[in-house]
Amino acid sequence: MAGRVEGKIALITGGGSGIGQATALAFAREGAKVVIADVIVEGGEETVTRIKHEGGAAIFVKTDVTQAAEVEAMVKHTVDTYGRLDYAFNNAGIAGAAAKTSDYTPAQWDRVIAINLTGVWLCMKCEIQQMLKQGGGAIVNTASVAGLVGFRSGPAYVAAKHGVVGLTKTAALEYAKAGIRVNAVCPGVIRTPMFERGLKVDPRIEETMSAREPIGRLGKPEEIAEAVVWLCSDAASFVTGLPMAVDGGWIAQ
Ligand code: NAI
Repeated sequence: MAGRVEGKIALITGGGSGIGQATALAFAREGAKVVIADVIVEGGEETVTRIKHEGGAAIFVKTDVTQAAEVEAMVKHTVDTYGRLDYAFNNAGIAGAAAKTSDYTPAQWDRVIAINLTGVWLCMKCEIQQMLKQGGGAIVNTASVAGLVGFRSGPAYVAAKHGVVGLTKTAALEYAKAGIRVNAVCPGVIRTPMFERGLKVDPRIEETMSAREPIGRLGKPEEIAEAVVWLCSDAASFVTGLPMAVDGGWIAQ
């Protein structure tokens, strides 16, 4: 049976770890050829190896999403290799420092905004240019439940993720008639290397976060991947501009 995204070309930033890696594997299993972009070579190559091991097609292109020239080269490399760009998952992101608004430093602020917000915009800019040339495509940006509600001690992260939601809605309106759908996925707390790093700082977060998730547990990267593949696929052909919470009920509280 053909996969849900058979023969499509999917680009995934932050594809070397966590949610990005799980989504890359999910796209490949559903028949897409996958381009993994990440600033860390090891993780990106690991994802490619895993996809190839399962019989899929993938390449890695080292990319720092904060660098306009590298983002441009990432999209060019995708098109040079596979001829087009059908889907883009703009997912690269960092947690940033945990500190209250009045304690945040300008350097901490700038780094989170550069990767989590400006990086998403730079990627969208180049991806949309390519999608306009070929007559359509679908984009999913990784926001967060922190793009929908506030979180104490994460001012830059929350501002960036709210920004991603706003950018998603704006681009969805701008390009709806051009056949480009733009949505965001808003994960709840997901067990990924990002979360594991937080655990090293505060081992209690596992218990406190699980308790705050109405569903009573943390999410799995594969549960976000499922939503992203669906949002990109033709099954979601009437869905655009949506910040889709995949959050165990977090924002229903
Ligand atoms: P992760 O740390 O496992 O993976 C993030 C990936 O992004 C890494 O491979 C990293 O190398 C890459 N990356 C970081 N900076 C980059 C840059 N400048 N250019 C290119 N790649 C870069 O994290 P995770 O948890 O998989 O996070 C993925 C996305 O999901 C992020 O945007 C994060 O904010 C978001 N998210 C995560 C949640 C969680 O609980 N884990 C909850 C809600 C959203």
